[in-house]
Amino acid sequence: MRRPAGPPPRADAPFLFREMTIEDLDRVMEIELEAFAHPWSAELFRRELGHAWSTILIAGEARPAAEARRAPVLGFVIYWLVHDELHVLNVAVAPEERRRGVARALLEEMTQRGRLAGAVLATLEVRRSNRPAIALYESLGYRQVGVRPNYYVDEGEDAIIMNADL
Ligand SMILES: CC(C)(COP(=O)(O)OP(=O)(O)OC[C@H]1O[C@@H](n2cnc3c(N)ncnc32)[C@H](O)[C@@H]1OP(=O)(O)O)[C@@H](O)C(=O)NCCC(=O)NCCS
Repeated sequence: MRRPAGPPPRADAPFLFREMTIEDLDRVMEIELEAFAHPWSAELFRRELGHAWSTILIAGEARPAAEARRAPVLGFVIYWLVHDELHVLNVAVAPEERRRGVARALLEEMTQRGRLAGAVLATLEVRRSNRPAIALYESLGYRQVGVRPNYYVDEGEDAIIMNADL
């Protein structure tokens, strides 16, 4: 049988992206609680959903369009658009879904959306001890531009400030 005309399915796009809604809160909190020793509260997520400058972008498993809203949530990124800068507040991926490119894909999607909205720089803070996250950001072109000593009051840990031009 002959293949129908048109481009083949994209093998490099296994995820789909959408903005979080309140219906996603339970699953997002599950991921948040597994990802951080000092997680955000559900209340904080609720408030974040109400801020016009804030986006919580979710990555789901790629599914046909009709099923897209029910695609399992794999991870999320929270960022603010402040003038021409993206401030990355939080990135987390479910433990069983790590090292398959979910965080990288989320940050690349954020970058694309940010550029379209006029952003020219992305900035974030990361714990000095968080090697996986630092490796992730470096692999995407973020560079260390400063340190905030004792930024995380819980453990008195320094924050590394990282920036990327978009
Ligand atoms: C950090 C985190 C978001 C990475 O998510 P992920 O989906 O597993 O990351 P990806 O698969 O997209 O990895 C992309 C790149 O980041 C780097 N990386 C990711 N996890 C890493 C790890 N455990 N060790 C070393 N490098 C790592 C690698 O360079 C990787 O590329 P590779 O797999 O081709 O080597 C995830 O580990 C997580 O949720 N951690 C807990 C929450 C957290 O610390 N968030 C960051 C707060 S600032």
